[in-house]
Amino acid sequence: MADDNLMIKMDSLNKSFGKIMALNNLNLDINRGELLGIIGPNGAGKTTAIRISCCILKPDSGDVLVDGMSIHKDQIKIKSMIGYLPEEPNLYERFKARDLLRYFAELYGVPRDNINRRIDDLLELVGMSHRAEDRINTFSKGLRQRIGISRALIHDPEILIFDEPTMGLDPATSHNIREFIRELKGDKTIILCTHYMDEADSLCDRVAILNQGRILDMGTPQELKSKLHSDIILNLELEIADSSAGKIIESFSTVEEVNVSGSKYTISLKSKKDIKEIISSLEGNIVSINIKEPTLEDVFINSFKN
Ligand SMILES: Nc1ncnc2c1ncn2[C@@H]1O[C@H](COP(=O)(O)OP(=O)(O)O)[C@@H](O)[C@H]1O
Ligand SMILES: [Mg+2]
Repeated sequence: MADDNLMIKMDSLNKSFGKIMALNNLNLDINRGELLGIIGPNGAGKTTAIRISCCILKPDSGDVLVDGMSIHKDQIKIKSMIGYLPEEPNLYERFKARDLLRYFAELYGVPRDNINRRIDDLLELVGMSHRAEDRINTFSKGLRQRIGISRALIHDPEILIFDEPTMGLDPATSHNIREFIRELKGDKTIILCTHYMDEADSLCDRVAILNQGRILDMGTPQELKSKLHSDIILNLELEIADSSAGKIIESFSTVEEVNVSGSKYTISLKSKKDIKEIISSLEGNIVSINIKEPTLEDVFINSFKN
């Protein structure tokens, strides 16, 4: 029986380019309404997996089911369900922004009566209303990316796939693009390929780590980070060096290691549970506190160690 909660099922995908195995029996399930991040180094197979799911590329073997439909049989229906922002969107340079969106609206069969409103709404969403009559070739990379996103949304697809949407953009523009994606969350099923760990951490419901065409690990950002539980580091600086402080700190069961340098203590903890107690046990003798939790980047690096 079909699983109603499942929107995309990548099933045993294999794809080679000559001697390069881009996908090696890849399996990945994406639930309806979730934002799934795919992270992995360059060449991991992210773009290949996505192009296959969008019916742009055929796998050597395996299948992708999109809302229960197979990429081998239902390409037209699947394409109509997906809005895709490629790594390098090919936008027709000489078109004006509005005309480009109109062209794609007609291509995707958006009802004629709705086209103008849809274009206005999308230009507004991506903050480009004032550039509607300007040609694409006058736009910076960030502005093109905004138009690329509105193009991906033009037919109001249920699924959105963004391939490295903030790559090469300045921090402020990246922030804006992330905010658009955040606004779409919940309404749509979204796949976000990225190699920016903080982007995956802040936006995604679940993250799959891809390497050499297969999934190394998968879970919520929190689940992935909690696997590195012993890596919480508490840095304390005491006002007065106190020889008993080390003993007090070591008495907590979650403390794994204490390093002392003068009045500075670096404490490795298995969990955050005792942090409050440790601090209060040192009774106001603390001048600075810093807690470092594992980041998704730590998880990422760690998953390649084994
Ligand atoms: N059209 C192609 N021709 C030859 N090799 C390709 C092609 N597309 C991808 N590859 C190779 O397949 C591997 C996976 O690429 P890709 O899916 O683009 O990875 P990612 O998007 O994770 O960086 C890489 O080694 C890449 O060089
Ligand atoms: Mg890629």
